Amino acid sequence: MSETSNWLVHDHRKYDEALEACEMAAEVGEWKNATRLFKEFVKDLKLHMRLEDEVLYPFFIKELGGSEGEIVDLSEEHDDLVRLLRDLAYIIKTNDFDHFLDSIEPLHKAMTEHSKHEENVFRCMNNDSLLAHRDEILARLKSLQHNEGRRTWDF
Ligand SMILES: [Fe+2]
Ligand SMILES: [Fe+2]
Repeated sequence: MSETSNWLVHDHRKYDEALEACEMAAEVGEWKNATRLFKEFVKDLKLHMRLEDEVLYPFFIKELGGSEGEIVDLSEEHDDLVRLLRDLAYIIKTNDFDHFLDSIEPLHKAMTEHSKHEENVFRCMNNDSLLAHRDEILARLKSLQHNEGRRTWDF
């Protein structure tokens, strides 16, 4: 597996673990901790999604000739994830574990499916070219951090 796939897989596993930790804290009634873990997870994921939406996805299409359809599907999955995250951001405030479970379970499932899908798409493409352009990608990412993302996160 290439370095790029490893990087993606590493982040995806990290988010998987973050959701598990959040669920475990809520299960034992540590809502303050669960909320903190959730907020950290969202902050991290926002940057991860921006990197994909605004740097990696366009790069795959423009520079590597990747399929636009595949990228549209992945972007739509991001939209679904944002909706599920918005629900959970609201539900977690109620400190009601049953409602919380009803909200975190579909989110966790959607995250897992999206990660798998994304890893497959990226694996099928030419990761060596991506690695050869790593400096350029990192420079683009740096420039992103100075402006607001185009995705609307109202939480
Ligand atoms: Fe993604
Ligand atoms: Fe990802």
